[in-house]
Order: sequence, then C-alpha cells, then structure tokens
Amino acid sequence: MARYQTGIAGLAVHSTPAAAAQDLAQRIIDLVRVKPDAVLGLATGGTMEPVYAALIAAHRDGLSFARVTSFNLDEYLGLPGSHPASYRATMQRLLFDHIDIDPANTHLPNGMAANLAAEAEDYERRIAAAGGIDLQILGIGRNGHIGFNEPGSAAGSRTRAVNLTASTIEANTRFFAEGEAQPDRAITMGIGTIMEAREVAVLATGMSKAQALSQALTGPVGPACPASILRDHPVASWIADAEAVSLL
Ligand code: PGA
Repeated sequence: MARYQTGIAGLAVHSTPAAAAQDLAQRIIDLVRVKPDAVLGLATGGTMEPVYAALIAAHRDGLSFARVTSFNLDEYLGLPGSHPASYRATMQRLLFDHIDIDPANTHLPNGMAANLAAEAEDYERRIAAAGGIDLQILGIGRNGHIGFNEPGSAAGSRTRAVNLTASTIEANTRFFAEGEAQPDRAITMGIGTIMEAREVAVLATGMSKAQALSQALTGPVGPACPASILRDHPVASWIADAEAVSLL
C-alpha cells in the first residue's frame, strides 16, 4: 500500500481513493476480528461505498458480523426507510443486505419519528446501552461537516434534528431523482456524541474535500469547521488520497 509521510500525526495518505478506502476497511476488519461483538459507528456518503464493498468481500472470505452492532450517524427527516435515498435504504443496499449482521442490531435515527427530541434521546440511550461505540467512521463534508453537524454546531452537541446547509443539499442532489423533493432537515448524532466513540477515523478522498481537510487538520479547532474538533479526540485517524491532501 503506497503511503506518503505528511508529518501530521494520525494522517495516512494513499495514492488513490480505492487504496484509502481499503485502508479504512482493513481497520474495521481488524477490529471485528479481535472483537467480534464490536460496536461500529457507520456513515453514508459516496466516500464510504468502496469501504462497504470491501467489508462485503471480507464477509464472503469468512468474516462474520453476526455479533456486531452498528449505529449510523444520521438520517434525513421525512424519508421513510423504504425510500431509496433514505440512509436506512442506502445502508441496506450497500452493506447490511450482504453480510450476516443481525438486522435488529443495525441502528439509524428514525427520521419519521413524530417526536424528534424523544427519538434523539432514545438514540443516545441505545448507544449507551450497547456500551458505546468502539470505532466511528466518518466522511467529511465540503464545508467541514461531520455527520450532519454543519458549521456552527457546538463541540458538545448531542443527537438532534438539524437544518442542512445549501452546500450540503446541493452535494447530495445526486442521490435523488431529477425534480424530486429533497429533504432540508435531518437527525444527526451530535459532535459530543461522536467524540465519545473510543476511536474515530475520517476518510476523505478527491479534490472536493481538499479545502475542508486542510481546514480540519491545520485551521483553528472549533465549530467553524466541525471536523477540526476531532483533533481533540485521543484516538483519531485521518485517511486520505493524494487529491484530498493537495491543499495541506
Ligand atoms: P460524501 O459525503 O462521501 O458523499 O462526499 C461525506 C459527508 O458529507 O460527510
């Protein structure tokens, strides 16, 4: 695996997006091998698609997820799990339907909940009841968001309903049919929730992430770039391809 030295602690740089995704997948595979009942924090987004393909390949090679529990970062408000662009449907299609994870152990916030505050509290309770998250994987938004914690989100924020920024809505238009109404709200783990995972790993690939990654790693730590707050996490790794680090 080709890797460059960058001098930034915890940052692994690969020549291609595929190699970067494989690196993150291998860390998940290694964790599940040593801890078959691991609690994984999962993420959606195009960046993660090759990661999930690699996990499916590992399962076909014999890795069992039967005792794994998962918690996804977020879900759109107003989309039922049957909608193809919902994060529930996305996770089923990209991962859950192809591995032996127990469906009862795959958690996403319910974006259709009548009482969102109660749903958010219940999500936090379910994470705690599972013993907390061992490894939270994360993409990064073009605006530096993590989960759907947009710029301005507090470091201590918890799971809650949020408004999406125009830039996030635009970045995700590609997942919706042309002319289809697209949600402008979501329910997301908070930054404080994410920071409680025992380990966090960010995957950033492509030029469109270069500005956000540079800000996250070398700008001020704070809500202007939510991903920067992960620098305060004791066990954070950053995995990127050459394009994503091109502004560092
Ligand atoms: P993407 O999304 O992987 O589709 O770029 C990442 C994110 O917004 O966190």
